[in-house]
Amino acid sequence: MSAEQGSSTTRRAVATAYGEPAEVVRIVGADTGVPGPGEVLVAVTAAGVNPFDAKQVRGQVGDDPSKLPLPLGGEAAGVVQSAGTESGLSAGDEVVVYPVTGAFSDSVLVPAANVYAKPAGLADDQAAGLLLAGVTAADILATLGPAKVLLVHGGAGAVGSIVVARAVADGATVLATASPANHDHLRSLGAVPVDYSGDLEAAVRAAAPGPVDAVADTVGTDQAIDVSLNLVPADRIVSIAAWGRSGDGITLVGGSTEESKKNRRDAVPGLLADAAAGKIVVEIAGTYRLPETAAALEAVGGRHPRGKLIIRP
Ligand SMILES: NC(=O)c1ccc[n+]([C@@H]2O[C@H](COP(=O)([O-])OP(=O)(O)OC[C@H]3O[C@@H](n4cnc5c(N)ncnc54)[C@H](OP(=O)(O)O)[C@@H]3O)[C@@H](O)[C@H]2O)c1
Repeated sequence: MSAEQGSSTTRRAVATAYGEPAEVVRIVGADTGVPGPGEVLVAVTAAGVNPFDAKQVRGQVGDDPSKLPLPLGGEAAGVVQSAGTESGLSAGDEVVVYPVTGAFSDSVLVPAANVYAKPAGLADDQAAGLLLAGVTAADILATLGPAKVLLVHGGAGAVGSIVVARAVADGATVLATASPANHDHLRSLGAVPVDYSGDLEAAVRAAAPGPVDAVADTVGTDQAIDVSLNLVPADRIVSIAAWGRSGDGITLVGGSTEESKKNRRDAVPGLLADAAAGKIVVEIAGTYRLPETAAALEAVGGRHPRGKLIIRP
């Protein structure tokens, strides 16, 4: 289809109400729209599934009924199907799309400013699962600034793994919490693994070669924040998940401030380059088809094996 041709229909996963994904997520037919100036229509080959998607469906990040039916999916890889004028892109370009609304679709209309060339050698699944976690990790590290001994809560998670890889590459000594099954993975990234199931503060102090001077929290539990406050001043703790603990003086980042937005946008080219060069490895834990979107959301919203979940239309 060229930009001159009319709109067509795409399958799209939406939440018809706020609630459990199995009960409220439906696959509907939606109008693709036609790309206007500075827009492109992207045929999705793979979409990354994130905990945020499950929180959105469950109404945990807002439950405005006027937003229903809510299109789901915040990042994807794909191929430009048709390009509007001034988009700088052409039909057939292989791309990564972030941020986007409605990535769990056959095709999605998106501003060209949110579309990046997919590096040669970066597979679609990895590209689709890279950017949301990657820009978040970069935002945490940019907000923290230099650290000599960094503690990462949730170091084996999608965001945590990239925080660990980047901090190790920057020369920091990195301690990272995870379940024992993920400790070898943390060692492979160059971190010192710490089990969070017992006395976490004692475990961190025993594992640390010197005083911890910064904390990156991707978990948000009271245990993670309480232990962190015993180890470093509050202004050396950056969290993406402990929204209930902002009163403790820690810094929460969520892409809403100008600084956080800039950190995230600036990080994209380097993340794509690092993933293409194998410096960041996006592990894939499972793939789903579009009709299985609810199952993917149930999985990502609970305990799941290490790695990203991907939806392929
Ligand atoms: N603010 C933002 O901009 C932003 C952006 C992206 C994500 N987030 C949020 O950040 C969180 C992490 O996202 P993600 O994509 O990295 O998730 P993920 O890949 O599902 O990873 C979550 C990790 O949490 C660990 N974990 C679970 N319970 C824990 C506990 N009690 N103590 C320590 N670690 C625990 C798990 O480690 P083990 O399996 O080793 O136990 C797992 O590796 C989610 O809540 C997500 O919504 C926020």
